[in-house]
Amino acid sequence: MRRLLIFLLCLMVFFIFKIPSGFSISGPCSECHTMHNSQNGQPVAENGSSTQPFRALTIGDCVFCHTGTNTGTNNIPYVNSNTQPTYTFGGARNTLAGGNFYWVQSDDTKGHNVVGIAGVDSNIGLVPPGYDPSNYPEFTKYRPSTWDHQLTCAGNFGCHGKFDANDPSLNDPFKAISGAHHKNIVRTNGTAPATEVWNSYRFLWGIKGTEDPNYELNPDTTHHNGYYASTSPTDPASINYLCGECHGVFHRDTYNGTYASPWLRHPTDFDMNTVAYKEYGNYPNPTLFSGKLGVSAVGDYFADVPVGNTQGAVLSKVLQSSGDAIVLCLSCHRAHGSPYPDLLRWDYSACQAGSPSADCGCLACHTSK
Ligand code: HEC
Ligand code: HEC
Ligand code: HEC
Ligand code: HEC
Ligand code: HEC
Repeated sequence: MRRLLIFLLCLMVFFIFKIPSGFSISGPCSECHTMHNSQNGQPVAENGSSTQPFRALTIGDCVFCHTGTNTGTNNIPYVNSNTQPTYTFGGARNTLAGGNFYWVQSDDTKGHNVVGIAGVDSNIGLVPPGYDPSNYPEFTKYRPSTWDHQLTCAGNFGCHGKFDANDPSLNDPFKAISGAHHKNIVRTNGTAPATEVWNSYRFLWGIKGTEDPNYELNPDTTHHNGYYASTSPTDPASINYLCGECHGVFHRDTYNGTYASPWLRHPTDFDMNTVAYKEYGNYPNPTLFSGKLGVSAVGDYFADVPVGNTQGAVLSKVLQSSGDAIVLCLSCHRAHGSPYPDLLRWDYSACQAGSPSADCGCLACHTSK
């Protein structure tokens, strides 16, 4: 009897923990694949007017499938749009957590210039600002020693999927991401292993965190991503490390000697609990941001000026304990693009010392400036 009970208990636990894998791709194969790219003698692939077949026999490339307008019911997350998305800092928008590539189509400064969306960045060129492939010598994950390709969605020269400087076949975004879509899980445990592309945060290989099931469409204090962060710039699973893979200098060389003020470059991987006695203890500045995305009191998580934590958890209250309010690259930037230069989350020109404005996100942390 007791054995039976234990067996039933194990079975229950198994199913409870098994459920997340049920979230992977559904729907008819033909919605996404074409076997020969031909039907009645006509091409099937729908990538604009293109008649070429695509890798993994899909009906289009990454950009094709991920272009559209988010309505809340679409099951492909749209990160690019051909009509201007709505976007209000601290308010309503139909863009997801990463923002949108729409703006970079016509202005190089407003997004990552990804192949198939925009040409090579006319100001920057190919190489990521701050690139230093030898910046992380203690790890075996390497980016190419010479950056001689335009940025792609995935692979050696892209953000998603696998990369390995010694394997040029991973220059191909489809190769780099192969198998991830069908195996995808919604990460609910921020520190669970991120060993493969499919179990990593948003197919960002090796990166941990908790995935908001709606990709932060309409976020508030309780509905948002949980960014995994660390107080060590060498932790390869943090969301800051991801940016550092390509912008290493901006990630690592932020200080001279002691990891404290006065800084050389804006700090990240820095826990605001250690300076909570200064103006940072007043994050997210309810005087300015009350009523925005559910913010009403000091310590409320403000999804438009996010901070990370060492559990990669979805916290609605921060500055409660050590390691729960870590500055991120994403505190200021969107990953894909925004209506503002440098992919910033808000209009930097609204930031004027002495005249506090709710259009300036810097003031969520610099609460007395
Ligand atoms: C909603 C879109 C979608 C549907 C529906 C879909 N697939 Fe896929 N499939 C993809 C994408 C995108 C890729 C390529 C990227 C990747 O491998 O992650 C892929 C890759 C594959 C691959 C190669 C990689 C792997 O996982 O082994 C196979 C095989 C495959 N699909 C078979 C199928 C079959 C069979 C069906 C129907 C039962 C199906 N797919 C339905 C989107 C879809
Ligand atoms: C795989 C490499 C790669 C990763 C990872 C990466 N970037 Fe970039 N980034 C680039 C390249 C290449 C450029 C220069 C060309 C361009 O603008 O796309 C760039 C440009 C930028 C720019 C300047 C854009 C402009 O036009 O002025 C910002 C800001 C930026 N990245 C922020 C980030 C942040 C934040 C992250 C982490 C979420 C990140 N990047 C991750 C490759 C990368
Ligand atoms: C045939 C359509 C199709 C193609 C082609 C496609 N995707 Fe997707 N993608 C999807 C769908 C559908 C989902 C949602 C999967 C889910 O809910 O598990 C998705 C989800 C994603 C996600 C979110 C994963 C997560 O953990 O939340 C990323 C990142 C992504 N795709 C990147 C890519 C990249 C990079 C490529 C090109 C190599 C690509 N996709 C090609 C249909 C496509
Ligand atoms: C997520 C919170 C956060 C945001 C958003 C933020 N900062 Fe900071 N900033 C900090 C923290 C924390 C420090 C380190 C303070 C310390 O060490 O005393 C810092 C340091 C600085 C410093 C250096 C101060 C020193 O003592 O060396 C400057 C200048 C600065 N920030 C300007 C800005 C500007 C401008 C913006 C907007 C573009 C901004 N910050 C946005 C949290 C933030
Ligand atoms: C406090 C807000 C803030 C944080 C945090 C932050 N950035 Fe920036 N970033 C900016 C601003 C503002 C600019 C515009 C240029 C400047 O002021 O230096 C910028 C510019 C950039 C550029 C463009 C540089 C160029 O040459 O055009 C890149 C790349 C970039 N940031 C990457 C990062 C990465 C990677 C991280 C995390 C390690 C990060 N940023 C963290 C605010 C921030």
